[in-house]
Amino acid sequence: MPHSKVVIIDYGSQVTQLIARRVREAGVYSEIHSCVTGATEVAAMKPTAIILSGGPASVGEEAAPVFDPGLLALNVPILGICYGMQLLAQHLGGELVISLTREYGPADMHFKAPCALWDGISVASSTRVWMSHGDKVLVPPPGFVVTGSTSTLEVAAIADENRKIYAVQFHPEVHHSADGDRMLRNFLFRAARLVPDWTMASFVDSVVREMAERVGDRHVICALSGGIDSTVAAVLLNRAIGNRLHCIFVDNGLLRLGEGKEIIAYLCGHFDINLTFVQAQERFLSRLKGVKEPEQKRKIIGRAFIEIFDEEARKLPKADFLAQGTLYPDVIESVSRKGPSAVIKSHHNVGGLPETMKLKLIEPLRELFKDEVRRVAAELGMPDFIVHRHPFPGPGLAIRVLGEVTEERLAVLRRADDIVQQELRDSGWYRKVWQGFAVLLPLRTVGVMGDGRTYEHVVALRVVDSVDAMTADWARLPPELIGRISSRIINEVKGINRVVYDVSPKPPSTIEWE
Ligand code: XMP
Repeated sequence: MPHSKVVIIDYGSQVTQLIARRVREAGVYSEIHSCVTGATEVAAMKPTAIILSGGPASVGEEAAPVFDPGLLALNVPILGICYGMQLLAQHLGGELVISLTREYGPADMHFKAPCALWDGISVASSTRVWMSHGDKVLVPPPGFVVTGSTSTLEVAAIADENRKIYAVQFHPEVHHSADGDRMLRNFLFRAARLVPDWTMASFVDSVVREMAERVGDRHVICALSGGIDSTVAAVLLNRAIGNRLHCIFVDNGLLRLGEGKEIIAYLCGHFDINLTFVQAQERFLSRLKGVKEPEQKRKIIGRAFIEIFDEEARKLPKADFLAQGTLYPDVIESVSRKGPSAVIKSHHNVGGLPETMKLKLIEPLRELFKDEVRRVAAELGMPDFIVHRHPFPGPGLAIRVLGEVTEERLAVLRRADDIVQQELRDSGWYRKVWQGFAVLLPLRTVGVMGDGRTYEHVVALRVVDSVDAMTADWARLPPELIGRISSRIINEVKGINRVVYDVSPKPPSTIEWE
């Protein structure tokens, strides 16, 4: 077990996991716990530092998440971020102005007093920070000094160096805060004097140990999708429990051309894994018949998956767990995690689970972002074609055939998408972008082919850059490449006479169209 341990108390911010991620990147072990966790429980975790996250509430609201003042008695360095700052100010005797409206966005913070958090940052000029505040601190608590201000916020950062308690109104964990990463590292290493003794190898060891303990001598079934996440989850479980792991690969008829096959071959060739291949095209496609609404599609697919896993599990007398390669962005966008943050889409592997499911979930990658999973995969010695594989959503092509999903429309999309994959690989762009794929639109447009008029479908090309899928931007592919993909699709795929390139960032759009 690493020596340094940061406990992050989550008050429901969408970016709490980014704090954990930055802490991990700095080489320090961290755990996120819900805001209902009491100080006695936190004390038992033996944290060497505590970070209080932001959150959407106002401390003035009746239902606002509460703070256990016992945390202050633990005598470990504390950093409060945004809502966490309000809580600290409120409980330590500061004065707050309560406001139910919020201000978001960039601001320039001026440094007002020396602070361990500012170490190595040029304090003569201001620094760009990502601000988010409703309530604000008017007068800092006794013992605190104001260490930073913006033009609209006098008390943007405060510190009590003696007690090692720090608070900032902005989000140092997001990329838009220019010196944010430095500030967080300063909190860890200058203020709290932690030791960077956590690595991907130690993550692998601790996850393997935890899973072995949790599963005991029972059996686990693992939903293999053919993507990197479930593959890494399976390999970790294989390490933990050997061949008491039973993998199930479901062909739901919604896969892209060749999806999964290489990975299955790799797993079978390298590990002693029990694998069942289930042909379920008919079950999925018949239930999707006539369904156009995206959330309904996702729920139907999620339910059919779980039904199959339940059926397969019944054939294995002792299987009590279902393992999934769920990642953090799937969790945060699907359910209000451990705090109150808003639902965006119900990703099938989280939000669509029916309440009647008999298996307990096991999700070894639930705290990680995709690039961290890639690092775990590399740590486990997996080959490049797995480590660098683009994400593919659980509901598959069903959410890329907009509108009704039929076999014919899937076949058209599969051919167009295969051209996109080939061209991205051949041009070297596959490794440079986060994800690239084709989407079949439920529209027909007029074209001209030879001497004749055509009235056919449109394919949208979606290629994005991202670091963690929480935000994304359209990839600036060379126009010649876009042109080549477009003419190949129009010439080679019957039924398509137009290709458009999607230039929408996330937010406000999402990566997938449904
Ligand atoms: P969005 O569309 O939410 O996608 O911006 C973010 C990332 O998640 C993938 N995605 C999914 N993955 N089940 C999954 O396993 C799903 O239901 C799902 N929906 C979206 C998407 O491909 C992108 O990488």
